[in-house]
Amino acid sequence: MNAPHPQAARNGGESDTRKLFQPARIGDIEVANRVVMAPLTRSRADEAAGDIPGSPMNVEYYRQRSNAGLIISEGTQVSPVGKGYMATPGIYSDEQVEGWKPITQAVHEAGSKIVAQIWHVGRVTHPDLTGGAQPVAPSAIRPNVVAYTRNGKMEVPVPRALSVAEIAEVVQEFRRAAANAIRAGFDGVEIHGANGYLVDQFLRDGANQRTDQYGGSVANRARFALEVIDAVVAEIGAGRVGIRLSPVTPANDLSDSKPQAVFGYLVEELNKRGIAFIHFVEGATGGPRDVPGFDFAWARKAFKGTYIANNGYDRAMAIDAVESGRADAVAFGRLFIANPDLVHRLRHDTVLNAPNPKTFYAPGPEGYIDYPALEAIAA
Ligand code: PHB
Repeated sequence: MNAPHPQAARNGGESDTRKLFQPARIGDIEVANRVVMAPLTRSRADEAAGDIPGSPMNVEYYRQRSNAGLIISEGTQVSPVGKGYMATPGIYSDEQVEGWKPITQAVHEAGSKIVAQIWHVGRVTHPDLTGGAQPVAPSAIRPNVVAYTRNGKMEVPVPRALSVAEIAEVVQEFRRAAANAIRAGFDGVEIHGANGYLVDQFLRDGANQRTDQYGGSVANRARFALEVIDAVVAEIGAGRVGIRLSPVTPANDLSDSKPQAVFGYLVEELNKRGIAFIHFVEGATGGPRDVPGFDFAWARKAFKGTYIANNGYDRAMAIDAVESGRADAVAFGRLFIANPDLVHRLRHDTVLNAPNPKTFYAPGPEGYIDYPALEAIAA
């Protein structure tokens, strides 16, 4: 940590003592600063070819944002039935692995680091997105959500409850996805345990009403998440593994009767595994931060790895959170969509571009690689 990181000079890091802009270690991953690019679904993979990323436009999008200390990729499905949105990239086929390579290479050439967010949407999908397969979940409980498909907006159907043997197969899919991520040149993975998708569906009792070893008690509901963690850690090492959690979000119609109990237990168990980071969505995803039910300040103290904070942070909040020690790093989503050079802008407190929600999921370069960067600012 004493020697300047190669990216520090480029970012003016040596002249700026605020912690947000200082190098750090996240598990085994050395980062040039503590600004993280949050995972962002952009629906611009080559769907016809098999949900393959890596077009010149995809590479350029990530290259532009490689001023972040760490980039967390858009969610990448671990299997065809784990896909919930149009044109999201996968990480289960050899062609997808090849597709990711120019992206990870461009990010590394620019001095940044990138982990793959590995994702299974569980019940939050529709057969039009999964190649006709019925969605799967811990229990056959339909969420009140819609899926956006080529055939328009659809109510999602009642999912099929996974058998115990099938749960073991999904754990192996996460394991293979992690191995594929390393093959593709990623620095590690973030398991998507948030926002009402499959891992979260097992954790929270609004979706999990199983009566076997995967449901009921807190330990039983956390079993699937921990089996995924253990498999991924065995494959790539704990220092390259993180998880995203959103203990109180209502996203995707999910809820829990006692979030502190289940997520408190999970944090303690994750400590035993020594994983690199937990990435917390503090509050309602993309919405209010003051949702009761979980004590994030407790989690920050209890968790021994890197605490990445997310949800509604602006510049002043992020600088203060890292300076005061309430977080080790801060992830920005929408601000990174609209500001490819976000770290420079935060450092120099300059004007920010506004994101255009109409192009978040639209195909093509507009609203993807055409947000302007400021002229380079002398450090
Ligand atoms: C979305 O595409 O809107 C989306 C995807 C994954 C999330 C949250 C939102 O975790």
